[in-house]
Amino acid sequence: MNTPPAVVRLVNISKRYEDEAAPISALKDITLEIGRGEFVALMGPSGCGKSTLLHILGGMDRPTSGEAWLQDLPLHTCDEESLTRVRRTQVGFVFQFFYLLPTFTVEENVGLPLLLAGRHHAGPKIADLLERVGLANRLKAMPHQLSGGEMQRVAIARAVIHDPPLLLADEPTGNLDSENGAHVLDLLRGISADIGTTIVMATHSDAAAECATRLIRMKDGRVI
Ligand SMILES: Nc1ncnc2c1ncn2[C@@H]1O[C@H](COP(=O)(O)OP(=O)(O)O)[C@@H](O)[C@H]1O
Ligand SMILES: [Mg+2]
Repeated sequence: MNTPPAVVRLVNISKRYEDEAAPISALKDITLEIGRGEFVALMGPSGCGKSTLLHILGGMDRPTSGEAWLQDLPLHTCDEESLTRVRRTQVGFVFQFFYLLPTFTVEENVGLPLLLAGRHHAGPKIADLLERVGLANRLKAMPHQLSGGEMQRVAIARAVIHDPPLLLADEPTGNLDSENGAHVLDLLRGISADIGTTIVMATHSDAAAECATRLIRMKDGRVI
């Protein structure tokens, strides 16, 4: 039997930011593979390159050198248009500060990725996902009416509504108390276990890392 191809494959990835008086090497020669359904915690001190790595995995930024594959897509050679398509169709994002659209209802926020993809009549799917994250009764609520934990659960529903193979989370519990953080981690773990979504989560939290199936430690732009 053939082993399934990796969802993420990085080969000798480096990233330099040149726009400073002194250029910054944010990532140095990173090579790794992440398979389907893995839930990876990315840990390391502030500034070690976690967010930069997530941005490259999600097609939000480009490596200076090396290869970044998302399944069979070479992100390192994609033009802007293809990267936009990748971000919209292949990746879900969850951030520390939620980034819900304040003038959209919960239901509209969750449906946004489908709207961008030109997929309509998504009502039942949105309702199903909001039920999964425990917010079935808040479809018509506005973001400002929700707690931080609830906002993050909406953001998670939005991040997976279009069934992306890869979910990226940048310190998703960094702005939550431990109870709400635990709820968010449970949801992420369930999504990776039940749906098979691959998750890469940058975190400073030991509790978060314990939920993951694999820990990758970084220091000074390298995997250690
Ligand atoms: N857009 C940017 N321009 C210049 N330097 C950046 C940029 N983004 C990140 N950096 C630098 O790259 C390094 C890694 O940053 P980052 O990936 O945000 O680390 P982490 O998420 O682990 O805290 C840091 O030194 C940071 O200052
Ligand atoms: Mg960061």
